[in-house]
Amino acid sequence: MQRTIFVTTALPYANGELHIGHIMEYIQADIWVRSMRMSKHTVYFIGADDAHGAPIMLKAEKEGITPEELVKRYTTNRQQYFKGFYISFDHWDTTLSKENKDLSCKFYKELKKQGLIYSKFIDQFYDPMKDMFLSDRYIRGTCPECNANDQYGDSCEKCGSVYSPMDLINPYSSLTGEKPIIKSSEHFFFKLSDPKCVNFLETWVHGKNRHGQLHLQEEVSSKIKEWLNIVDNKILIKDWDISRDAPYFGIEIPDTKDKFFYVWLDAPIGYLSSFKIYCEKNNINFDEIIKPDSNIEQIHFIGKDITYFHALFWPAMTNFAMYKVPDRLNVHGFITINNEKMSKSRGTGLSPLKYLNIGMNPEWLRYYLATKLNGTIADIDFNKKDFINRINSDLVGKFANLASRSSKFINEYFQGILYYDDNTKLSLQNEIINFIEKIKLLFENHNYSKSLREIMSFNDSANKDFDKAKPWLIAKEINFNQFLKNQLHLTCSIALAKFRAISIALSPVLPNISANIAKNVFGNKNEFIWQDAHILPYKINHFKHLINRIDEKIMEKLFDSNDTSDQKNHNDVNIINNNYITIEDVAKIDMRVAKIIDCHEIINSEKMLSFTLDIGQNKYITVFSGIKNSYDPESLIGKFTIVIVNLQPRKMRFGISEGMILAASDSNDKNDKIYLLEPHNGAYAGMKIK
Ligand code: 2FM
Ligand code: ZN
Repeated sequence: MQRTIFVTTALPYANGELHIGHIMEYIQADIWVRSMRMSKHTVYFIGADDAHGAPIMLKAEKEGITPEELVKRYTTNRQQYFKGFYISFDHWDTTLSKENKDLSCKFYKELKKQGLIYSKFIDQFYDPMKDMFLSDRYIRGTCPECNANDQYGDSCEKCGSVYSPMDLINPYSSLTGEKPIIKSSEHFFFKLSDPKCVNFLETWVHGKNRHGQLHLQEEVSSKIKEWLNIVDNKILIKDWDISRDAPYFGIEIPDTKDKFFYVWLDAPIGYLSSFKIYCEKNNINFDEIIKPDSNIEQIHFIGKDITYFHALFWPAMTNFAMYKVPDRLNVHGFITINNEKMSKSRGTGLSPLKYLNIGMNPEWLRYYLATKLNGTIADIDFNKKDFINRINSDLVGKFANLASRSSKFINEYFQGILYYDDNTKLSLQNEIINFIEKIKLLFENHNYSKSLREIMSFNDSANKDFDKAKPWLIAKEINFNQFLKNQLHLTCSIALAKFRAISIALSPVLPNISANIAKNVFGNKNEFIWQDAHILPYKINHFKHLINRIDEKIMEKLFDSNDTSDQKNHNDVNIINNNYITIEDVAKIDMRVAKIIDCHEIINSEKMLSFTLDIGQNKYITVFSGIKNSYDPESLIGKFTIVIVNLQPRKMRFGISEGMILAASDSNDKNDKIYLLEPHNGAYAGMKIK
């Protein structure tokens, strides 16, 4: 049966580069997508950047750019990862699109019509200096349980207790250091506790899609049971706060003032809006294809940390907004690198960009990750030694070896022509078809690791049969013996037919190598599909070696933190090429040489130094600059630096900052070291920079 499938991966926040965790998810989804395409199903593989929320707004503010500019900086570079790792997205967009805004408002209005939206006033911490309500992540203070200092607003890292930010002792805003006040504000809620919602979710969480598959892996639905309050067999779900007060970077809520959708409302809608944009470009009727009763299957790949949003909020939203409800979530675990946990925002250890830039083969990584992925939510580890062994032993030692040994004889003695006797033909054909059917099913059921084990065991037995026949001995005798010649021909042909079957089987994982084999070894016009297993090959071409061994040296380079190959294509550099500004734009910035007259620490500020700057013509300004961690203030007095003098003055906790001192930093530097700019000798205060 021909299926139509809409597949997504979680939308990454557009305030950082993609890390290995993202790449693992994309590879996992891509393998599945490719295996479905090999069955000739229609698959739409869709992604986007998640562009809203407070962290993006604050990061942009810190850099003195708009959130849109920040988002653009990261989104323009995504393609290099997709090309690099052969991730075959059909479309990639961002949640900034008009389509996403419209669709989010449409969802909201429909939910409201259904009586599932209400508002009420709630008390929240508010930073009076920043004029901003503070979410838990921006509140810190002393743990009410163990008195540990400097803990987050919702949980203590020291003793592990979970609490409300209101219970923190001496809470302060991590944005300004200010003591927050409690302020009331109207918030909008999605009424998940409504009986019709609860009933729907109860059914959905344990339900099956039209293919008889559970919506959720069993371990996921039992996790959900743990999270939900179950009283008298009924689940109790808390209503969901879907609004945020200005200032917030998000979509304005219709018919309200200064209220925005919480980023998690419009993010999953981004799956649909990105798909909609794709459909419009390709003359597909989006409204028709995404109707609740449409035959399309909607499948989301996500990490286990965002299960709650996808297994409860998202199905409820789609259902009551009258859209297609997800058919299946594929939840995966985290990836550790050499057993080290990585931070979600920064990633660690293995930089995907560096991996590509130092010339490591992307299919090594695809293969290795696939050997670990088994469709469960267990974490997986990338282990250096294991990685080298897997690739060198499986792909080079077993797979490529089978081809090179057998093709040598076929080319030398039989002009590339393959031959099977009648007996062999049928049994070989059946053996291959059965093998491929099994592999296809394992991919479909997300058990890639088992699939690869089966493939390698098939490869082992093909190698064994080949060894047992001792073709290298037969080859010495064949000039005198037609029977032996046939035997050699048959042995090598069987080996190559099996090699071709293995190449078909590995296609979802190794798309480039297998396409190369299809075209260059077997002369196929197209890439392999599963159906190709139904015919035996009859000819091979001369071909070069298929895959390199991994050298330990390159692994050392990958993990050498002094090697900065990942920064070759770094965004900050790329943006210069992508977003030109005009000379008029530059002329708007009034930059001057300034002499540092005074510089001192600010009490109660972790980062700031206060500067008095001579900017020429007897003018002096005060500037606060967050470089305390990099400089001893006294050492700067008397030095020259560069300052922007026409920046709008900013009110800060310690006074008004009247300019911006220029300094260099690297967002990847773990120590956050900052370097002030200093003009060459001879420059004096007030000189204009041009
Ligand atoms: O956790 C995250 O990185 C979110 N940006 C994922 C959003 S997935 C979807 F809902 F958009
Ligand atoms: Zn504690």
